[in-house]
Amino acid sequence: MSEAMIEELRAALGPRSVVTDAVDVEGWTSDWRGRWTGKAAALLEPASLAEVQAIVRAAERHQVPLVPQGGNSSMVGGATPDDSGRAMILSLRRMNAVRTVDHKMRQVVVEAGMILASLQERLGSEGLRLPLDLGARGSATVGGLASTNAGGTEVLRHGTMGAMVVGLEAVLSGGEILDTLSPLKKDNRGPRVDRLLVGGEGQFGIITALRLQLVAAPTDRATAWVAVKDPAQALELLRLAEARCDAVEGFEIIPADVLDAAVAVMGVTPPVEGAPWNVLVEAKGDTSPGTLSGELESLLAEALEQGLASDAVVARSEAQAEAFWHIRHSLSEGEKKHYGMANSHDISVPVDAMPGFLAEVTKAVEAEWPGVSVSGYGHLGDGNIHLHVRAMERASGEWRETEGEAIERRVHDMVVAHGGSISAEHGIGQMKLSEMRRLGEPGRLQMLKALKAALDPEGIFNPGKLIV
Ligand code: FAD
Ligand code: MLT
Ligand code: ZN
Repeated sequence: MSEAMIEELRAALGPRSVVTDAVDVEGWTSDWRGRWTGKAAALLEPASLAEVQAIVRAAERHQVPLVPQGGNSSMVGGATPDDSGRAMILSLRRMNAVRTVDHKMRQVVVEAGMILASLQERLGSEGLRLPLDLGARGSATVGGLASTNAGGTEVLRHGTMGAMVVGLEAVLSGGEILDTLSPLKKDNRGPRVDRLLVGGEGQFGIITALRLQLVAAPTDRATAWVAVKDPAQALELLRLAEARCDAVEGFEIIPADVLDAAVAVMGVTPPVEGAPWNVLVEAKGDTSPGTLSGELESLLAEALEQGLASDAVVARSEAQAEAFWHIRHSLSEGEKKHYGMANSHDISVPVDAMPGFLAEVTKAVEAEWPGVSVSGYGHLGDGNIHLHVRAMERASGEWRETEGEAIERRVHDMVVAHGGSISAEHGIGQMKLSEMRRLGEPGRLQMLKALKAALDPEGIFNPGKLIV
């Protein structure tokens, strides 16, 4: 099947779009965490919408699964093929043009393979910004960000990627094109069917371009690193910050052990040493330069006065602010390199429940599995924490299959008991498929299955992910 398809596509699209050289293909068959390694019969790199259409039609004719891929920075193995060798990776990375920038509407139409950092650079030069940032900005593409409805560190004020998607272009089963890129402010021709592809993890079609809502590039920015006692105090500081400054868009919490790992791997010193917990808070907006740092300094003075914080450093320059964020965005790397085997959860509970949840889950898991250590960091303002459960010293190679899976179920049961979600921003991918089956609400599972059957009748769009 795949041989015939490769020949057919080479003839139709030319050799550049059909890569079969093992070394080139293998560079894209493992996930970022190194948990899954698959095989692919080819790496397809279409240069145009028409080429994507040809690929989808050929894949359905030849019954070859397609794994859509942007930056391959998925945290749940969403863009990694299985190990059968039957699937082909469909990379959008070559389709990375900015089609139009609309300054009046503050919108951009951009192709799916555009990398976030490249887009931010281009928009910055035009006085605009996509209000979304995350540690994978150097590899994550706008197609992947939309397909996972990514969060990141500015959700507090701007929402997730889905909030910025005004419309999209996609190739559906049969090679049909869905085009909702029009700049129309109102269009009520039925429900917003394009929204199915936002967070759809490549299950219902291939996103080839997006119209994204932007904001003006900030003229003012204030960033501070704050030492606090614990998540409960961090939450009080969050509420104070929101009450005193309506431009707060980032509020991240970091425990000492996670920070220590990151700064050790990076070889830097933290802005404040020895704090049990740290908060990175940032405000951005169109106020005149210096306004927000004034607001931030006075609210931090109030917090120190009230004993809500024990120390604080306000960044004195863009460079210092970027240095703070570089530490924050290196936490995953630090965890991966410093602590080795761990369960990494991406959970959400109602914001006010987070401090209690963290204390409860830490106590329960460390009591039931002596030797493991539990640590959580991330987007407190969104009620989303990345909870890492690290294996005990000298854990066996099978730890993940034995204790790891039992711990995962226990953590997720506690999340659900708190009215939370087992996936706050990374999606389900292949990593959480069995937990989605075990804990997913019947109505949600039923709808996903029905949509999958209707929109992917040949079952070629990223099988083995999200939908059970
Ligand atoms: P990929 O990993 O290539 O694919 C992701 C999923 O989307 C897959 O299911 C894939 O099949 C599908 N897909 C990709 N492109 C398309 C397309 N054009 N059409 C249809 N389906 C497609 N995520 C967050 O939400 N918040 C964070 O703070 C965050 N921080 C991260 C930090 C680091 C260091 C890393 C490595 C990852 C982080 N992530 C975070 C996870 C990841 O960056 C996001 O999930 C991102 O949206 C993936 O984008 P990508 O282009 O790499 O997509
Ligand atoms: C983050 O917030 O750093 C990312 O979501 C990745 C992670 O889970 O660490
Ligand atoms: Zn995150």
